[in-house]
Amino acid sequence: MRIADLGCGNGAWLCDLHDEFAKTGLSSQLDGYDINPINFPVPAFLPSGIQLQQLGIFNPSVDLTGLYDIGHVRTFGITLAQTGVATLLSAVLAILKPGGYLQWEESKVVKFLIHSPPSPGI
Ligand SMILES: C[S@@+](CC[C@H](N)C(=O)[O-])C[C@H]1O[C@@H](n2cnc3c(N)ncnc32)[C@H](O)[C@@H]1O
Repeated sequence: MRIADLGCGNGAWLCDLHDEFAKTGLSSQLDGYDINPINFPVPAFLPSGIQLQQLGIFNPSVDLTGLYDIGHVRTFGITLAQTGVATLLSAVLAILKPGGYLQWEESKVVKFLIHSPPSPGI
């Protein structure tokens, strides 16, 4: 099975999926694409079967047409405000094989706070 994670960030979702597949013995090729590779782990820390590549999904520099059984998107909401839902759907549908699946996860974020404890001794 061939699966693409679009806007994959640090590849965490693909790594979790790889672990789940390992339990079942399912074989897969897991490909992550992100316009900004800054959060990619170094390849030596990625399980075999996962590849991450720098790629803007709305104007891909390589042809991914019809390659994937599943396309996954998670927390793309901020980008959607600029591009619109239809543009994202077109990009994902283009990479799917006939009958392929899209899995799309978003959360309704009204307020996002990160609290850090005070430094010791201050
Ligand atoms: C909020 S992060 C989510 C990362 C990952 N999906 C996750 O859930 O951990 C959104 C990601 O989308 C990427 N992104 C934004 N626009 C993109 C584009 N046009 N093509 C590919 N990736 C893009 C960003 O660089 C960022 O890593």
